[in-house]
Amino acid sequence: MNAEELKRDLAELAGWTEAALERLVPAADVRPAQLHAAMRHSLFAGGKRLRPALCAAFAEACGAERSAAERPAAAIECLHTYTLIHDDLPCMDDDDLRRGVPTCHKVYGEAVALLAGDALQALAFQLLASMPSAPSVALACVRELAAAAGPEAVVGGQVEDMLAEGRAPDAERLEYIQRHKTGDLIACACRMGVLAAGGGDAALAAATAYAAALGEAFQVADDLLDATSDAATLGKTPGKDAAQGKLTAVAVYGMEGARLRLARLVEEAVAALEALPQGAPPRAVERLAALARYVAGRKS
Ligand code: IPE
Ligand code: IPE
Ligand code: MG
Ligand code: MG
Ligand code: MG
Repeated sequence: MNAEELKRDLAELAGWTEAALERLVPAADVRPAQLHAAMRHSLFAGGKRLRPALCAAFAEACGAERSAAERPAAAIECLHTYTLIHDDLPCMDDDDLRRGVPTCHKVYGEAVALLAGDALQALAFQLLASMPSAPSVALACVRELAAAAGPEAVVGGQVEDMLAEGRAPDAERLEYIQRHKTGDLIACACRMGVLAAGGGDAALAAATAYAAALGEAFQVADDLLDATSDAATLGKTPGKDAAQGKLTAVAVYGMEGARLRLARLVEEAVAALEALPQGAPPRAVERLAALARYVAGRKS
């Protein structure tokens, strides 16, 4: 699959994700309207929808229809968007720009932004709990998301990210931060795709190995973009990591070292796809390889 085909595929998958969210998230005029408007402000500002795309691609790689992954895909995007809203709050990274628009708290105030994040997190679990599949599949997805969103995952990663500000470069700590603040949700997206499709242990192990490399690659790319891009391309304010003394891949490995690491991790992710069970639809596997390469070359 070449870059042009992937771009088309990603745009189509993003449209699929947005149509699902449009249906599953309360409308902006539903009471309390301010809360729903704030949730939708951040949700529909135009993210890349990478996590839903991974979820759908793994469901298809396991031979299911994409529709089997609809709720997990919508749930992971709701949960991810909550982490962005909270990450941008003045008490955290204090950002004014997200997905090319003013951050949730800039438009709706801190208290409503905080609550919009809370609501998106709860909604994510509600979406999974009411999956139309067998209760065991819904339960497995709830368990995945709870673990990935919890204290030893995203929240733990965010805490260490905060505590590491201004500290000396430390590769072990960086690895913890990247794995948990970013990698765990990416792994959850991939694994829920397998679970929604009824995939077995071999597919789950392949998804886990792919996502471990891809999650780290994704955050290395994010750190590089923060150091090199501009606000118009990025949709967020660049240069903040250095200004805030963040422990990033650039701080630990330098620009060139981070680039080499990124390239190596992407190839590791692609290689992990070889462990997918025989008979996985080639087109779906190709898309997963293309998605990994896209992460290395992404501009936003
Ligand atoms: C940003 O994630 C937060 C990180 C984990 C680095 P994305 O780069 O996927 O953000 P959106 O969803 O496209 O806005
Ligand atoms: C945030 O990492 C990861 C989460 C939101 C959980 P960053 O702080 O680097 O993300 P950006 O650069 O603000 O998107
Ligand atoms: Mg942060
Ligand atoms: Mg941030
Ligand atoms: Mg960043």
